[in-house]
Amino acid sequence: TGPILKLNNGVSMPSLGFGTFASEGSSGETHRAVVAALNAGYRHLDCAWFYQNEEEVGSGMREFLSNNPNVKREDIFITTKVWNHLHEPADVEWSLKDSLRMLQTPYVDGFLVHWPIAAEKNEDNTVKIGADGKYIIKKDLTENPEPTWRAMELLYKQGLAKSIGVSNWTEKGIEQLLKFAKVKPTVNQIEIHPFLPQYELIQFCLSKDIIPVAYSPLGSQDQVPGTGEKVSTNKDLNAIADKNGVSLAQVLISWGLKRGYAVLPKSSNPTRILSNAKLITLSDEDFAAVNKVAEGRKSRFVNMKDTFGYNVWPEEA
Ligand code: A2P
Repeated sequence: TGPILKLNNGVSMPSLGFGTFASEGSSGETHRAVVAALNAGYRHLDCAWFYQNEEEVGSGMREFLSNNPNVKREDIFITTKVWNHLHEPADVEWSLKDSLRMLQTPYVDGFLVHWPIAAEKNEDNTVKIGADGKYIIKKDLTENPEPTWRAMELLYKQGLAKSIGVSNWTEKGIEQLLKFAKVKPTVNQIEIHPFLPQYELIQFCLSKDIIPVAYSPLGSQDQVPGTGEKVSTNKDLNAIADKNGVSLAQVLISWGLKRGYAVLPKSSNPTRILSNAKLITLSDEDFAAVNKVAEGRKSRFVNMKDTFGYNVWPEEA
């Protein structure tokens, strides 16, 4: 499970988590992946309402727990997130309760605001899409997330979430949140890998006692625009893996753990799920070699303006 990280409210979180984004939610793929992950020793599952596979995460976890009576629900750290169109306080509560039902658990260990963007919903709680094919932004709630955070705090106080945090938030958004938060966010889950090393945001979060959690630690979504260069095919990174007789994924996971945050590799393949959980320790020399690949990179590959019609990272536009 990797080193245990202590959140700012005293809750413990294993630093190696299992990502479920883009794991199929209706074919049994996510169910099988979750069983494989728990069998491989992962004790931290990263989920989201938006991933549309929480029922399979829940059934996979229940199957594992019934076959392993020595492991209890309390031994597993489960995170879920509220999607953009459910930021109104009543919807935040609805979202968490819907996730709890699907995950078959009375509480989650982490509940995060998935993006710092509030959008319109349809009456049946689906995302409302505008004529331009994009989300319809709720400007007030995006610019002032206090009502959303109050709803998060209430669910925390009710014990339905053992910790609350954010995801994809910038330094500016967190500064604003900290001004009114009665319960501080415990984590900020963001994309981190050698092509998006996030030096400043990581330092900022750590200075506020907020733990960064890395999604896409294997750099899967990314390709440097115009060059086609990918993390997975980077020669220098692969050379480090080859030299140590390990996979590139193991190098990337251990690089993240050595930098002091949590990492969430995703896989649907049982062999890779198992090998990603075989943690190695990078030598200082190899750690420096990965840092060298990361040096000077600042491109963000996913343009949220295209997806959400709202610029999450204006400073990088
Ligand atoms: P698969 O699910 O078929 O294993 P990230 O966590 O950075 O988003 O990366 C997830 C992607 O990386 C998935 O496409 C996953 O595919 C792939 N992946 C996961 N583990 C490994 C590994 N050890 N080697 C190569 N690819 C991997």
